[in-house]
Amino acid sequence: MFSLQNKITIVTGAGSGIGAAIAEAFASSGAMVYVAEYNEVGGKETVAKIEKSGGVAKFALVDVTNETECQALIKRVLEENGGRCDVLVNNAGVGHVGTILTTEPADLDRLWRVNFLGAYHLSRAVLPAMLERKTGSIINLGSIAAITGMESRFAYTVTKHAVLGLTRSMAMDLGSSGVRVNCICPGRVQTPFVDARLREYADPQEYLQQMVAPHTLKRMAQPSEIAGAAVYLASDESAFVTGSAFVIDGGYTAGK
Ligand SMILES: NC(=O)c1ccc[n+]([C@@H]2O[C@H](COP(=O)([O-])OP(=O)(O)OC[C@H]3O[C@@H](n4cnc5c(N)ncnc54)[C@H](O)[C@@H]3O)[C@@H](O)[C@H]2O)c1
Repeated sequence: MFSLQNKITIVTGAGSGIGAAIAEAFASSGAMVYVAEYNEVGGKETVAKIEKSGGVAKFALVDVTNETECQALIKRVLEENGGRCDVLVNNAGVGHVGTILTTEPADLDRLWRVNFLGAYHLSRAVLPAMLERKTGSIINLGSIAAITGMESRFAYTVTKHAVLGLTRSMAMDLGSSGVRVNCICPGRVQTPFVDARLREYADPQEYLQQMVAPHTLKRMAQPSEIAGAAVYLASDESAFVTGSAFVIDGGYTAGK
């Protein structure tokens, strides 16, 4: 495994699913992890799990849609660590099922604020400190919906394409500053996020089969299979990687 020894890291949405797996993998690779969540119960559970296995983590209550709270989180992390924040993972995200016709403005606004603006607010807040130290890694959670169109996922596809756009635009502008920005694009991952979608269908088993079918590997990923890529992108071993759409999709997009 790649080393994150002594790195100060923030993982948003780390109280569940992929974010929790990333936080745990970061801690077991030697990083200090801020578990940034608006779900206090889930976030504190992740912190407890990390501490139980000998890692170092702190809970941070934040709603990533709120710019002031995002700025306060970064201020706290910098103050507690002598101006350092090495890694930011913008993982908090929400989904929605609907076409353009069945997606109300309020639905699109909610997904835009969590999936896109959360990453925008936190990246803007942390960048000056990263630029001053000429080092940093920002990792955004995209999706295969950042690369391909996805049926009945209008708001999700739009906002995840925007997350990949944010990644590429920032990577271009940051150039050789020492700050790298990448986007992980997973296929379906077995998390509460997917379980919630399944419950929206009359026949969850049938829908599960439909979800898995486009993946060449004919299964969903486990959160730990995404976390490994985040550890790599956070580590110094990925120094030549920026602006990438790091696809981990069991072959979903291979035939697209
Ligand atoms: N599960 C999948 O199949 C899949 C596939 C591709 C991409 N993704 C992306 O990966 C990320 C994590 O997904 P997951 O499946 O682990 O989801 P999840 O629902 O299990 O966890 C998401 C976490 O984000 C937190 N969160 C939501 N809104 C927040 C806010 N405003 N402020 C702070 N925290 C907030 C939630 O409390 C939750 O703990 C998301 O960005 C999602 O779009 C998931």
